Amino acid sequence: MRDAQPGNIYLKDYEVPRFLIDKTELRVEIGDKDATVLANLTMRRNPASNYQGKSLSLHGVQLELQQLAVDGRALSKAEYEVNGEELLIHRVPDNFTLTSEVLIRPRENTSLEGLFKSRTMYCTQCEAQGFRKITYYLDRPDVMSEFTTTVVASKSECPVLLSNGNLHDWGALDDGRHWATWHDPFLKPAYLFALVAGDLSLVEDSFTTCSGRDVALKLYVEEKDIEKCGHAMDSLKNAMVWDEEVYGREYDLDLYMIVAVDDFNMGAMENKGLNIFNTSCVLAHPSTTTDDGFKRVEAVVAHEYFHNWSGNRVTCRDWFQLSLKEGFTVFRDSQFSADMGSATVKRVEDVNMLRTVQFAEDSGPTAHPVQPAYYMEISNFYTATIYEKGSEVVRMIHTLLGPELFRRGTDIYFERHDGQAVTIEDFVAAMADVSERDFTQFMNWYRQAGTPRLSVTSDYDPQQQQFSLHFSQSCPPTPECQEKQPYHIPVSVGLVTPSGDLPLDAKGNTTQVLEITQPEQTVVFEGITEAPVPSLLRGFSAPVKLSYPYTLDQLSFLMGHDSDGFNRWNAGQQLSIQLMQALVTDYREGTPLVLDQRLVEAFAKVLAETDTDKAMQALVLMLPSEYLLAELAEVIDVEAIHQVRRFMCRELGRELRDTWRATYLANSEKVFEMSGAAVAKRSLKNLSLRYLLNGASDDSLSLMHTQFMEADNMTDRLSALNGLVNDPREEARPLSEQALDKFYNDWQHEPLVLNQWFQTQAACVLPGGLERVKVLMEHPAFDFHNPNKVRSLIGVFCNSNLINFHDEAGEGYRFLADNVIALDKLNPQIASRQLTPLTKWRRYDLTRQALMREELARVLAEPGLSRDTYEIASKSL
Ligand code: TRP
Ligand code: ZN
Repeated sequence: MRDAQPGNIYLKDYEVPRFLIDKTELRVEIGDKDATVLANLTMRRNPASNYQGKSLSLHGVQLELQQLAVDGRALSKAEYEVNGEELLIHRVPDNFTLTSEVLIRPRENTSLEGLFKSRTMYCTQCEAQGFRKITYYLDRPDVMSEFTTTVVASKSECPVLLSNGNLHDWGALDDGRHWATWHDPFLKPAYLFALVAGDLSLVEDSFTTCSGRDVALKLYVEEKDIEKCGHAMDSLKNAMVWDEEVYGREYDLDLYMIVAVDDFNMGAMENKGLNIFNTSCVLAHPSTTTDDGFKRVEAVVAHEYFHNWSGNRVTCRDWFQLSLKEGFTVFRDSQFSADMGSATVKRVEDVNMLRTVQFAEDSGPTAHPVQPAYYMEISNFYTATIYEKGSEVVRMIHTLLGPELFRRGTDIYFERHDGQAVTIEDFVAAMADVSERDFTQFMNWYRQAGTPRLSVTSDYDPQQQQFSLHFSQSCPPTPECQEKQPYHIPVSVGLVTPSGDLPLDAKGNTTQVLEITQPEQTVVFEGITEAPVPSLLRGFSAPVKLSYPYTLDQLSFLMGHDSDGFNRWNAGQQLSIQLMQALVTDYREGTPLVLDQRLVEAFAKVLAETDTDKAMQALVLMLPSEYLLAELAEVIDVEAIHQVRRFMCRELGRELRDTWRATYLANSEKVFEMSGAAVAKRSLKNLSLRYLLNGASDDSLSLMHTQFMEADNMTDRLSALNGLVNDPREEARPLSEQALDKFYNDWQHEPLVLNQWFQTQAACVLPGGLERVKVLMEHPAFDFHNPNKVRSLIGVFCNSNLINFHDEAGEGYRFLADNVIALDKLNPQIASRQLTPLTKWRRYDLTRQALMREELARVLAEPGLSRDTYEIASKSL
């Protein structure tokens, strides 16, 4: 255990900053061994603070202080003290300049926070609290400053020197070093600071904004990646146009830079004018990147761009408001992706992720509200709840207000708060003002953790021609809150009959948004001449767990007749889930498994459709994941879930063999294309091939093998590789091993492709998973310091390979704990994230519970544990 246990920080303790920093001038000199940071801060007492004292407290972590001066006078040792992560200066005037010089060690910085080295470059990551690893500062988002940054480094090692804003001046020194000075005219908090120095190549383009200003767009990557920038650049330009058209937001600097780095803790970072991206979220080429990879690049590029308004121009007052920028920005990027491709496909993908990852988080020991009331380590709060549930909450406001009022709300929000650091309440107040609605009850979505349950029943009275829906809502207790207040839930409904949707108002609208606010509430529809099947929560209008006593026949009916595309998909999922849950019970009781023919018929019908989007068809034909079934189970029986899902895939593969083959052939194209239609075809084609393989058709192995050998794109190649690797048949082994070897040999120089090679093997469900992963950890291409590699191998194995990770002997748990302990010494953010699967121990049988707890306890007992890992481990036990 640590000497001093870290404590919680509370939202209720928020205090305005005692001092402000009007100007920040930095000179960062990068040497061969270390770096020095000279900071000149123009500071003054904050008139809004009632602090009367004379002392100044600054944040600083792992800084080696060289000199410290106030108004140019060096301070003696008696005039200040360094206590842990704070520098306390005993006396400062009301207005003054603070000068400090510190030494930092970017080459030894494995946390990837602050200034660090990755391959050929130095770069920074300051969100949330990394700036304090660069210099002593008021490292909090409500202290906004005008930054001028000079970067000095060796000209040969680091020909490119970047920071936020505009390049102001540059020059050479006579010792082989050079320098560049950048100035950012926009006030910003330190978390948006960035600096890059390295050997990078440049791809350039330009954009003319709606008011006619020219913006230079610059993408900096390693020379070898120069061919992989086109998609990110196109996505950036599309995002810039979209934000002008949909939100009226124009870009504000003359320059927009993106730098790609291989070692990065998250996807990307929205630093003002200088985004830094994980290579996996910016580089894309059909030969190395799957279609899903392309979509991800588009979404992340847009997300970071949208932050320029939702996050940078209007930022967060404190980190409890994180979802103010993240939830809103995820909502914006999801609208963008929906507009760029298929809105229904995007919605299905998002809801799938929400239901698996976020719902699981919301029902576990790390559950927290979208606006948390307390935290230990803010890095642990970059979660599915803050991001994805936060986005759902903004989406509900959009649903309640409608697009026009919502847009007026965002206009007012941006206008009122431009240049300010604000709260979630400020955002909601803008929405309340334009709509004259009361959001008091709605705020429960932000303040209460947990996923509400909404149970619905109905009755139909043919005499009165009335159809009634009875709603009942509740929310299970979560660690921070036992008794939940009822939520304000927008429920979008339609009433479906064999002849179509019934009109619900005089205008003939067939969808209506009901507002459920009471624990129990009944809504009556008048003039209903036949008993309809209700289509509830269309488009997934609220992040709740809905239950309605649908029969299997009603679900099949909705699958074929609901006018809401999302709910057609959802009906199919519910149908599969009901059947699979029943089979799980059969499996546990030793009853032989039999597949309900209604599912085969439903699948056959979907496969026969000719006018549906093929991407949507593929999604409907994809069975719910093991992960989702686990999330839904009372007690997770990994083995039963795995066997039942395999059984269903095999039966569907066998029963519809000829149709799968025909669909495979009909959707195979000779020439590669990147269009939406071509992507959709590929997804349906690869799904069909997978069912052929699952059904163990004789020709499936050779079809897979041929596709692997002849593929001219990564989607087809990887899909075939996955199929081969997971095929349990003996005759598949040599083909699978050959394919893995060939894949490695062909792509060994592409780190991003090797990530996929690791992922494929880490996810392989055949027995012996842990041994395979342990062998791969010794592979020369594996790198424990690189988060993408750790996530690809350890993360995928522990999160997605349920059957192997949860092996009864508990070796998987021991493996994860060992790795978390080792990672924690290098990179606490990554270590604590990897710990997640063990935190879910309560969901398993008693034997596994004990094994998982034991490993968690072992992690927690580790001396010198980081605050990050300590928080997650201690909350979980
Ligand atoms: N603000 C970033 C985003 O969502 C998230 C991020 C990037 C981050 N790097 C980080 C958060 C490091 C914490 C630590 O776009
Ligand atoms: Zn973000």
